[in-house]
Amino acid sequence: MKKIALIAVAAAFAIVGSQAQAAGDVAAGQKSATQKCATCHDMTSKKQNKVGPYLWGISGAALGKVEGFKYSENHLKAGGEIKAWDDANLDKYLEAPAKVIPNNKMAFAGLKDAAERANVIEFLKTLK
Ligand code: HEC
Repeated sequence: MKKIALIAVAAAFAIVGSQAQAAGDVAAGQKSATQKCATCHDMTSKKQNKVGPYLWGISGAALGKVEGFKYSENHLKAGGEIKAWDDANLDKYLEAPAKVIPNNKMAFAGLKDAAERANVIEFLKTLK
């Protein structure tokens, strides 16, 4: 009987753990984004363009539409294929920006860790 209870507890933890990873952890994402994106991107409601466009409201937004930001030509061209910054497109782009949009202006190698990307993407959703 005890053994069954233990297995049930372990299974419950496994489910909670996998859900947390799939959905991303906002606090961890905020930490990563503050360390790795904030030099170039304003992530506050002040909506200021820096080296890169502000990221307030970027989750779900169309590509290349931040007001007042001068995007590279190649970034704007990519708008033909990438219709919106949904989770899947953000995931691909943030893993390897230069691979998804060659010769774009974002001088950032990418986030190689899938869990870290999921966290950052979850954090970006809160910027609204
Ligand atoms: C070295 C500066 C720099 C860093 C670091 C950087 N970015 Fe960028 N980012 C840019 C620039 C510049 C652009 C515009 C690209 C272009 O026009 O070619 C951009 C574009 C973007 C876009 C597309 C915006 C749009 O309106 O289409 C997203 C999303 C984005 N960055 C997210 C991030 C995230 C998240 C991080 C951190 C993990 C990050 N960036 C790190 C400079 C940077």
